[in-house]
Amino acid sequence: MASPEIQRIGVVGLGAMGAGIAQLAIEAGYDVVGREVTNELGQKAQERIAHFLQRKVDKEQLGAGDRGAALERLSLTTELAALADCDLVIEAIVEDIDAKLALFAELEGIVRADTILATNTSALSVTEIASAVETPERVVGMHFFNPAPLMPLVEIVRAELSSDQAVEAAFRFGERLGKRPIRCHDTPGFVVNRVLIPLLNDCLRVLDEARVSPEDLDAAMTAGAGWPMGPCTLVDLVGIDVHVHASEALYEKLREPRMAPPPRIVSMRNAGLLGRKSGRGFYSYD
Ligand SMILES: NC(=O)c1ccc[n+]([C@@H]2O[C@H](COP(=O)([O-])OP(=O)(O)OC[C@H]3O[C@@H](n4cnc5c(N)ncnc54)[C@H](O)[C@@H]3O)[C@@H](O)[C@H]2O)c1
Repeated sequence: MASPEIQRIGVVGLGAMGAGIAQLAIEAGYDVVGREVTNELGQKAQERIAHFLQRKVDKEQLGAGDRGAALERLSLTTELAALADCDLVIEAIVEDIDAKLALFAELEGIVRADTILATNTSALSVTEIASAVETPERVVGMHFFNPAPLMPLVEIVRAELSSDQAVEAAFRFGERLGKRPIRCHDTPGFVVNRVLIPLLNDCLRVLDEARVSPEDLDAAMTAGAGWPMGPCTLVDLVGIDVHVHASEALYEKLREPRMAPPPRIVSMRNAGLLGRKSGRGFYSYD
């Protein structure tokens, strides 16, 4: 059930990440107010959530009654003012600093003084986002992984001025969602992307350096290093455009050559070879 201090959650932006986070929260017993820019986008997200919960019912992971009760806990709005009573608001809008700064400034004028404001940003500075508000102590990062309902990790990111109370409340909330939260500070890439992005870029450079095929590279890392999935398969799954964007963002901040996207995948991105979602990347998908 919902933790005593946090009962009502606001989720701003119900795209890939926001809808997944909203799903997790309603399944965990929280009331969720989801804000999108149009009613149509909100409804589409609600339909996706209903569909995923139905799949859980079909797999006997969730009762039909529990599915219905969870869906009733989700309300949709296009008005930010509807988030006034939320104890925690999680922002999952486009990865654009100006959009996030404007949103946080507006949110601060709407929510209570003790409402925690969290951002799901992957590559922006949580401290910079917190600079939009007069009470930056209440701002933390809650970095979920895609797809949020399935990936166990959530990075709880402490910005320069985050309060212990906000960090711990976000951590406990992550646990209540059934996640494995970790605490970290606000540095580029946080923990996983800081390690994984240069590592994947090294793997992709080896494709050319060792003249190894994507199949053999994937076999090398699964059979030789115990990875659950090979790097080419993983980058195809993440999306080549997403990986290039994340690499560029890290490189811009840290200037380490390993962070920069290898030219090969920049060309693939430019050619529209985006991996699984476009039907072709390192592999072809039907
Ligand atoms: N996709 C991933 O793999 C991933 C993983 C972790 C974190 N993130 C981060 O999560 C955030 C969202 O990413 P996504 O992949 O879900 O993006 P997305 O494009 O799928 O969804 C963003 C949604 O936000 C909506 N939106 C934009 N401005 C809004 C506003 N002011 N109010 C309400 N809704 C608004 C858009 O209509 C859209 O539906 C980004 O900061 C991203 O960096 C993404």
